[in-house]
Amino acid sequence: MSNYIVLGAQWGDEGKGKIVDMLSAEMDMVVRFQGGANAGHTVICGDEKYVLHLIPGGIVSGKAVNVIGNGCVVDPVIFSEEVDYLLKKNVVVNPDKIIISLQAHMVTPVHKYMDKVLNKHIGTTGRGIGPAYGDKITRTGIRMESVLDGTFLERFCKQADNARILCERVYQTEFLDIKQAEQELAESVERVRPFIKDSVEIISAMVKSGGNVLFEGAQGTLLDIDHGTYPFVTSSSTSIGGALTGSGVFVDFNKRIGIVKAYTTRVGEGPFPTELFDETGERLRKNGNEFGATTGRPRRCGWLDLKQLQRSFIINGFNYISMSKISCLSGFDYIKAAVDYDVQGKPVYKTFGGWSEEVEGATSLEQLPSACKEYIDFIEDYLNVPVGMISTGPDREHIIFKQPLF
Ligand code: IMP
Repeated sequence: MSNYIVLGAQWGDEGKGKIVDMLSAEMDMVVRFQGGANAGHTVICGDEKYVLHLIPGGIVSGKAVNVIGNGCVVDPVIFSEEVDYLLKKNVVVNPDKIIISLQAHMVTPVHKYMDKVLNKHIGTTGRGIGPAYGDKITRTGIRMESVLDGTFLERFCKQADNARILCERVYQTEFLDIKQAEQELAESVERVRPFIKDSVEIISAMVKSGGNVLFEGAQGTLLDIDHGTYPFVTSSSTSIGGALTGSGVFVDFNKRIGIVKAYTTRVGEGPFPTELFDETGERLRKNGNEFGATTGRPRRCGWLDLKQLQRSFIINGFNYISMSKISCLSGFDYIKAAVDYDVQGKPVYKTFGGWSEEVEGATSLEQLPSACKEYIDFIEDYLNVPVGMISTGPDREHIIFKQPLF
């Protein structure tokens, strides 16, 4: 029996999708425990590319049952669209392969609208995440179970009414066409209905029976509602603690995999000490094709921040690093990584020699230039956790294993 957890160690977009997909082939279950359709997981399988926002990445390959846990927020409209998208790509999708927790909260058109009214300054994905979690915390949210017990529509109308009053009286802005929103939502709710089940019992049974279970994090540790760069964060617990509350099952994770991009990116507003505003940043963006999978926004780019990663490692107790996008650093004269901050809070850098050789697609350590290996070794020493896996390109085969995963 093995329980794996894969989490982003930075501000999201570290390349979790590929690792989740690789692991999924060996898993009996893949569980998402937080977030909603704000995630953007890209999985490349052969010639086919899949971009998923809400459904766990395990759906693409293998036998795994995919669970959207109680800590998630579910937009039925996007869920239905994603099911159609997968069916079109000949992926098997049915209520045996995907389970939505009874206790997960619903994201409604009202939440998506309020996200735009309330959260512009955060630079959110506009997927209604903050307002949906806000309603959950203030105990006015709509759980998925309300679809089964028949109270969904009544709850939705009440929620819409409250938001309308707030928009008109406080924010003095127009409200959305609620009749149209209600119709769209009601249609997709019917499609979602067969997927709604008691996920806690289902995950617990799998863990007890000794199956392989993978917990798939979304976003990254620095976007965590408690541990991230508040208020420029998402509204869920993206770090390891969230996996327990968000799945409802105690799990002793054998492999705690931190996904670390070889440099840093961030989407949306908020602090980013190692951000590059010059042509080096532009080059990183181009090399790494750093544009958001959910919103298409260009990602902010900068050097690796080891000090920040150290904190992320304390929070998550990672015991295995999967490093991504090392190939995007080829061709730089030098590479920097922040190893500390000075008294003004500015990053203190260590400079590494660059390398000109292409490393895209490398499958063994011997294929990496010595400067590249030195950079990786330094990261490993600094964080005191082994870099077990180095991803050298988008395909599944583009990988170097320094330590076995299984
Ligand atoms: P929200 O999750 O849509 O509320 O957005 C809050 C912040 O998290 C914004 O800065 C978003 O850009 C960021 N964010 C949300 N999801 C992702 C993701 O999957 N990758 C990277 N950033 C994300």
